Amino acid sequence: EKGPFPYYMLKEITEQPAVMRRLLSRYVDADAKPQFDAALLKALASADRLYIVAAGTSYHAGLVGQSLFEQLAGVPTQAALASEFGYHMPLLSAKPMFIFLTQSGETADIRQVLVNVKAAGYPTLTLTNVITSTLAREADYAVDLAAGPEIAVASTKAYTAQVAVEALLAAALGQFKQVPAAAKSDVAHALSLAAAGQQALIDQQAKLHALATALFAKTRNAFFIGRGTDYFVSLEAALKLKEISYVQAEGFAAGELKHGTIALIEQDTPVVAFITDPKTAARTRSNAEEVEARGAKVLRIAAASLAQPEDQLIVDDLPALLTPLLTIIPGQLLAYFTSLDRGYDVDRPRNLAKSVTVE
Ligand code: F6R
Repeated sequence: EKGPFPYYMLKEITEQPAVMRRLLSRYVDADAKPQFDAALLKALASADRLYIVAAGTSYHAGLVGQSLFEQLAGVPTQAALASEFGYHMPLLSAKPMFIFLTQSGETADIRQVLVNVKAAGYPTLTLTNVITSTLAREADYAVDLAAGPEIAVASTKAYTAQVAVEALLAAALGQFKQVPAAAKSDVAHALSLAAAGQQALIDQQAKLHALATALFAKTRNAFFIGRGTDYFVSLEAALKLKEISYVQAEGFAAGELKHGTIALIEQDTPVVAFITDPKTAARTRSNAEEVEARGAKVLRIAAASLAQPEDQLIVDDLPALLTPLLTIIPGQLLAYFTSLDRGYDVDRPRNLAKSVTVE
């Protein structure tokens, strides 16, 4: 039940720190080492390439997973849209393994890919929030995202659970394969920092509501920019705003602005810039200045160690690949408050269903 919350979406946003802690207790042992089924790790370790097949928000989590599996487990990994992959299959490597990333476990576009790759004899794993679902049953292996039931149509806690489980699984695979980056990584510690950092952001709801009103109250469009994982979060923050507030929102790789998108910037166009990676912070900041010079209203969301006086929201520091666990929280809350301000049914946006069982 919703309890004191006006909408399930807000309840589910606030549950995210507890989900992080639940995943730690479920998938991390007493020595802070991530633990998964040995047969699953063996299957993953014998793959020469991983494909993460997903849709919508889960695809955005898959993009983060792509970097996590490459860097922590040393295996080439490609996130793919299920609706495209089913019909335009890329040239596969010799020994691929397929990971289906799906909150509901019922998405038809994903099932269509699963049926085909199983028929071709490839190993399959489903990461899902519904462990009794079709995709969990039909894959060779299944791992529970353990986020608890997600009722609001807009996915929130399933996204952060997906990123966290991908990180734990990539680290476990890297340790199994003795990849040096995995031995050094302390994903368990990072996830407990993430839980605290998420709580700090959830506690700033009044501020985020004011920022949402100032930025999005009247706008018809909005842009989210970043580089690397900040770009992946931009895509997800834009999707959240689109689906529940009906604002035309787009996420862009910040460096791509000058290749076309900047033409869309007008007086008062809202732009949210995510700045959490020391390698690219200066470049994203100059992109933010470029749009500001053309009249954009810019909200800068930055990591603590990179903070500048013009930044209006600060998130805690985390290893670069895990910052989406924090930066998406303001993305979710900005969308929530915009929908609320506009008087929409936050949990049941028009034209959308919770699980999409048609192709
Ligand atoms: C967006 C959203 C959708 C789903 C997509 C995939 O908030 O919920 O984009 O992420 O339909 O659904 P699952 O993860 O159930 O396969």
